[in-house]
Amino acid sequence: MSDSIYPVPAEWARRARVDAAGYERLHGLSLADPGSFWLEQARRLDWIKRPEIAGDWSFDEADFHIQWFADGKLNVAANCIDRHLASRGGDTAIIWEPDDPAEAPRSYTYLQLYEEVCRFANVLKAQGVQKGDRVTVYMPMIPEAAFAILACARIGAIHSVVFGGFSPEALAGRITDCDSSVVITADEGRRGGKKVPLKTNVDAAAAHAPALEKVIVVKATGGDVPMQPGRDIWYHEAAAGEPADCPPVAMGAEDPLFILYTSGSTGKPKGVLHSSGGYLLWASLTHALTFDYRPGQVYWCAADIGWVTGHSYIVYGPLANGATTLMFEGVPNWPSAARIWEVVDRHKVEILYTAPTALRALMREGDAHVTRTSRKSLRLLGTVGEPINPEAWRWYHEVVGEGRCPIVDTWWQTETGGHMITPLPGAMALKPGSATLPFPGVDPQIVDADGRVLHGATEGNLVIARSWPGQMRTVWGDHARFFQTYFSTYPGKYFTGDGCRRDADGYYWITGRVDDVINVSGHRMGTAEVESALVLHPKVAEAAVVGMPHDIKGQGIYAYVTLNAGCTGDEALRAELVKWVRTEIGPIATPDAIQFAPGLPKTRSGKIMRRILRKIAEGDVTSLGDTSTLADPAVVDDLVANRVG
Ligand code: WTA
Repeated sequence: MSDSIYPVPAEWARRARVDAAGYERLHGLSLADPGSFWLEQARRLDWIKRPEIAGDWSFDEADFHIQWFADGKLNVAANCIDRHLASRGGDTAIIWEPDDPAEAPRSYTYLQLYEEVCRFANVLKAQGVQKGDRVTVYMPMIPEAAFAILACARIGAIHSVVFGGFSPEALAGRITDCDSSVVITADEGRRGGKKVPLKTNVDAAAAHAPALEKVIVVKATGGDVPMQPGRDIWYHEAAAGEPADCPPVAMGAEDPLFILYTSGSTGKPKGVLHSSGGYLLWASLTHALTFDYRPGQVYWCAADIGWVTGHSYIVYGPLANGATTLMFEGVPNWPSAARIWEVVDRHKVEILYTAPTALRALMREGDAHVTRTSRKSLRLLGTVGEPINPEAWRWYHEVVGEGRCPIVDTWWQTETGGHMITPLPGAMALKPGSATLPFPGVDPQIVDADGRVLHGATEGNLVIARSWPGQMRTVWGDHARFFQTYFSTYPGKYFTGDGCRRDADGYYWITGRVDDVINVSGHRMGTAEVESALVLHPKVAEAAVVGMPHDIKGQGIYAYVTLNAGCTGDEALRAELVKWVRTEIGPIATPDAIQFAPGLPKTRSGKIMRRILRKIAEGDVTSLGDTSTLADPAVVDDLVANRVG
């Protein structure tokens, strides 16, 4: 951990929307009088009926409920598009940078966005999609992905975006869980010069997703894909006859906007449900303040729309603010490690938001890829998804930003809807590796294992003591699991699953997950999910998965596998198991190390002692702690002796 301090640059202190005193005032007010504070903030949205109540919530089991602006009515798509038409209909809403830099970028004005979204909405309506229906979106990073989700929002359908890197099995599970009868996809995606067979994956998923009735296919690459009559529809054919006008549906603020599946410490992925009003307000306000966004600036969030970062900071937040948002189809290191910086120069990007894992990978390729580009348009840099190590932070600051751009290290989660602990660039001095201070309305606490609130400089588990508008509202189809997962560990508080340190200046330093979630390249992976995939293999008797330190990915996946009697753990089986997991879940779940273990360390009651497995995976075999309570302490010696890596 680093304790060097980077003060707010003088120009930022002078010109930013929020300076240090402004932050104190806003945060103070947000906690002292949340009702007036949030009704005032809600004015930044365009309401069909303006709300008169702000938060109405209780985290207590007996009276558990979370509502914001419940008497308000609005349409999210109209907030992101229609209301900008009069003043800036001709301004660029979306710039699209294709995978292949030899191809021309595309851009859409707000007026063009309006027409595209309306037409898409009409296609959905023609297929019988209605308010409240679930629509699964399995798309590459093309503008039609944004049109599709905004079209859902326009007619009140609930979208569930599934990342294009998930396998047919994972896709089928998500389609079935939310009982979605329509999937929107493309023939193929492209990433780093390679094709992703999206439509073929949907076909494979359909075999395990009986609810699926219609597949709307956007022609992206023109690749040859079979179409099943009666089920599959080419988008361009369906759209041809549709008008470029479609009235937005009035939605209650608490009506669901979307579901996004995310990994937890147990069981299968949870469908995180977000609301219309509170979510949009949170996405919009955080985008405006954290990035100090001013209309006309080109803003680029280099995430994928399949993750919450893409939802809140490629689509909803920026478009609600009338921003110019850049969508990138490709990957950071193709055709070369200079790609990000070339895109920055090509489109004069002023604000860049990316993940530490990408920075670490690019840093390794050497500074020359960066310094041969100009980057003089950049004024602010951001990171998200995992703790950033001070070395990568300094590289981002010195080499990429040439010392002139503040870095906003934004801590948040799929569940929180948007930024929770983050610098505001005109208000906070920065410390590399710290997400600094809570956003207005956020009331973080650090607690010990028994839930006692720890004060001052301290370390423990991070909880949030009160609701905020962007908070998830439920787990789709399982409200009991929502309460159980987040509110039962520390009664009356939202438990984040993260560990955290607070320093003497009150700055927060996220130390990583304290549950069985691994953060691989900024993406969440539940150890239980990988274990269930492994044990489906006919040769596997038992599996235990833990995180291990990884130079680029932050954390890697380390799997201990016990084979069935008579099976041999060799290199061929190792390769087969890696492939197996990729097929079951997707490439993001690829195990980095597989250790064949004749036995796993268990207590006498049969519980696997993950603490020991984590230590061995980390290579820290000298401090395994007390192993005397194990049913068979000898298994530990074998695990240590045969450690992989
Ligand atoms: C981690 C991504 C440290 C954290 C937006 C959290 C971070 C999980 C940061 C959520 C950060 C996210 N510093 N850790 N700036 N941002 N995390 O749901 O462990 O994909 O709980 O949301 O990522 O991951 P999720």
